[in-house]
Order: sequence, then structure tokens, then C-alpha cells
Amino acid sequence: MSPDRPAAVVVLAAGEGTRMKSSIPKVLHAVGGRSLVHHAVAAAGELEPDHLVVVVGHGRDEVTAHLAEVAPKAAAVVQEEQLGTGHATRIALEALPPLTGTVVVTYGDVPLLTAEVLQGLLDGHAAQGNAVTVLTAHLADPTGYGRVLRGDDDQVVGIVEQKDATEKQRTVREVNSGVYAFDAATLRAGLARLDTDNAQGELYLTDVVAHAVADRARVGALAVLDTWAVEGVNDRVQLAAVHRELNRRTLERWMREGVAVIDPATTWVDVDVTLDRDVVLEPNTLLRGRTTVATGAVVGPNCLLVDTEVGAGAQVTNATTYGAEIGPEARVGPYTFLRPGTRLGRGAKAGGFVEIKASDVADDAKVPHLSYVGDATIGEGANIGAGTIVANYDGVTKSRTSVGRHSFVGSDSVLVAPVEVADGAYVAAGSTITGRVGPGELAVARGRQRNIAGWVARRRKGTRTAEAAEQAEAPRADAGHEEGSDA
Ligand code: UD1
Ligand code: CA
Repeated sequence: MSPDRPAAVVVLAAGEGTRMKSSIPKVLHAVGGRSLVHHAVAAAGELEPDHLVVVVGHGRDEVTAHLAEVAPKAAAVVQEEQLGTGHATRIALEALPPLTGTVVVTYGDVPLLTAEVLQGLLDGHAAQGNAVTVLTAHLADPTGYGRVLRGDDDQVVGIVEQKDATEKQRTVREVNSGVYAFDAATLRAGLARLDTDNAQGELYLTDVVAHAVADRARVGALAVLDTWAVEGVNDRVQLAAVHRELNRRTLERWMREGVAVIDPATTWVDVDVTLDRDVVLEPNTLLRGRTTVATGAVVGPNCLLVDTEVGAGAQVTNATTYGAEIGPEARVGPYTFLRPGTRLGRGAKAGGFVEIKASDVADDAKVPHLSYVGDATIGEGANIGAGTIVANYDGVTKSRTSVGRHSFVGSDSVLVAPVEVADGAYVAAGSTITGRVGPGELAVARGRQRNIAGWVARRRKGTRTAEAAEQAEAPRADAGHEEGSDA
């Protein structure tokens, strides 16, 4: 990103997050498909620091395991007891080789802090030749934050916490965001001098500012105009607010790239989703994980697509899909459930009340109505009749089924796996298929129809049904109607 990369970025994430009232560590709560700490390390990682350290404490095992998965370059350092932000930073530095250059400190619970904002901080820090640069924000309501104290010459002289501040200091509306750029030596010297002589009995990182000022080092502040960038998450109300803002930004980005979002208020798109131009997102659509949608596809209304690939020009409506691949020009929905390993080819169809799992439905093949298809391969141009069930599970093992090219499975059939219907074959409606059907064959596997004449008159005498039968037969009486057996 920039030639002057920081020596280290330290992400503080050891706090408990009591106000979340959750058994999940705070920084593992997610917005836009990424945990809070994932957002933080992703932004930090873009600065390409020599070291990326995350200080973990509460829920350390879960957080460390999660980091190994999403940010293998980040090193987790344990802070056993949360003795304050200064203590946490100290522990991070102790875990690193002696550093020179710039150290950025940030938090794991500030998900809208972008690499651009961090880079702006680094650039300002370098341009002003500072030993410490504090990222600040001017807030209408600064309650709860540390306030930035400035001297008569307007130079930053320190930061005072809400709980330690005088009435007068509390009127200051410029707050400490908790994000800083430090000269490594200045930071080390300041951390060595911290004490717990404050309202919370903690080692405050903020006191490094006053120590630097006392040492006549250059201390500056850089105000962010976009206050969302420094908005921390402490409870679920803030989590929801930050999520909505992140989503608003994500949608705005895609709309500027040529995506039609019909109702941004009810459309939620994770940050790792990718969309092509001329995609249309109808209302109430949720795109999650690594979902991709190709040009001209219409998704929604009422869709939840997770890790799903949608091909160009496909139409997906009222569907729930996980780990599915929907081919170009394919049709899905309404009320369709596609589970992992489903692959629909070009122009294929998964229609109303259809569930498909781990199956390949080739180009132009159709599963139009009321079916379950599991562990199956459906050949090109095949048609699976309404209500067909692939019985893939015998209670112990799951087996595969295949239906060949341009074959036709009649409605309400059961294909009992493992079984094969070859290319160019037919299955009669209502069949239960347990053995192979060869090419060109028609399989009929159901009871033959038998009609018993006069049954209603004999056994349901006096009912309206009998009356209707009588009326239906009357005009045809002299046509010499016979007892039939076949329809
Ligand atoms: C801190 C700042 C305050 C600033 C505010 C911005 C200090 C003393 N105060 O206050 O000036 O306005 O952030 O949000 O720094 N953490 C640890 N280990 C600890 C303590 C905290 O890792 O021992 C982590 C927390 O998980 C959290 C972050 O540091 O992510 C901030 O801690 P918190 O206790 O929320 O600080 P504030 O009181 O909000
Ligand atoms: Ca906080």
C-alpha cells in the first residue's frame, strides 16, 4: 500500500465484552459475514506490517483458533488478566523482537475502520514528523470516551478518561478513537512509565501521550470525519447499527458498480460476496459468505444464498441455497432448497418445492415441481416429473442415482438408490424403481389399474356420490356401457 510500512500493528482484543451478554467472545460476533476481529485484522493486514499481533484474553482459545483460520499471518498474544490498554500493548511489544519505526495500535471491535483510514493516520504521522499521532473524532455526544486535551497553543497535551475527567474536561467533544500511530521507542518508554493511579486502577495506553509530551516529543492528532470508522461495538444495539451501516456501504459500492438493488433496506450482502454489473437484487435478499452472482442474473425476492455461485442470466426467486452452483440461464424457485454440492447446468431448472442435495443436474435438465433429489446425477435435457423422490438413504448408507440424457421420469416416482435410469429411457408415473432401466426402455413399476363396475351403486347406495354416478350414467345407458377394466 505504502512504501513506509509499519513495523507492527497491535490489535487489542482481550476484553470480555460483558455488555454483549453472550457466551461468544465479543470479537467473534459477526457483521457482513466476518467476525469483528476479522474486519480489524483485514484492515491492519493491508498496511503490510512486519508484525501483526492480536492481544487475546477472554475466549482466547476460540479467538486464537478463529484467527488461525481467517488471518494466519496474525500472531495471537495472550493477556492473562485485563489490566488495561497500556498493559495489553506492553504484552504485545514484549512478544516481538525489538522494533524501530512505527507501531499502530487499534482495537478488535471497530469493524468499520478501513485500511484507508489507517493509511491516512500513517501518512499524517509521517508528514507531521510525530512521535505519537492519535486518531480522534468530534462527537456530538462524547460521553464515555477519553477526551483529547489541548494546550493554549492547541497542541495535544494528553488524554483524560471520562471517569477521571473534570466537569470542564467532559465538555470537550474531541475524543480519542483508541487508534494510534507511535514511534516504537516513544511507545516503549511511555509504556514503561505507566501507573494505575486513576479511577479504574488500570494501566492506560492513553497516558503514553502525556509521557511523550513531557519528553518534548511531537504529539499530534488526526481527526476522522467519518465517525463510523472509529465506532466500537460494545453491545448488540451497536452491533446492529454498525452492521446496517456496513451493509449500506457495501450496497452503495455495488450499485456504483452497476448492480440494481431494488430495496436496500431489505437487502443484505456480506463483504466477501461478488456481483457483476446488471445483476438485479430484488427485495428481501440475503447474500452470504462467498456468494457470487454473474451478470444479468436476477436474485429475489425472498432469497437466502450462502456460498452460492449464480451464473449469468439465471433467475432465482424465493430460494434458500447453501454451497450450490446455479448455471447460466438456470431457473430456481419459488420455494426451493438447494443444499451443498448441488450443481445446476446451463438452462437447468429447480422449481417449486424442490430440494436438491449433492447432485448434478446437467444443462437443460428439469426438476420442476415438488421433488427431492439427493446424491444423483441427472443427465442433459432429462425431465424429472412432479413429486419424484430420489430415495438415497436406506437408514444406514447413502447411495447414488443416475438418470441419463433426455430421459423422462414420470410424476410421483420413487428412484430407490443405488439405481440407474439410462440415457433415453422412460419411467411410468407412480413407479417405484429399484432396478436398472436400459436405454429406450419404459419401466412400469406399479399396480395395474382395475375398475369394479357398479361398486358405488352397491356399496354407497343413497349417497350423493351414488346419485352423481347415476346421473352420469343415465344419458349413456343405451350406449351399451360395459364393465371396463382398463382406462
Ligand atoms: C479506550 C480509551 C479511551 C477511548 C476509547 C475508544 C484507554 C485507557 N481508554 O477506553 O480513551 O476513547 O477506548 O473506544 O485506553 N483491551 C484489552 N486489554 C485490556 C483492556 C482493554 O485487550 O486490558 C481491549 C478491549 O478488548 C477493547 C479495547 O482494548 O477492544 C478498549 O478497551 P476498553 O476497556 O473498551 O477501553 P475504553 O474504556 O472504551
Ligand atoms: Ca470500548
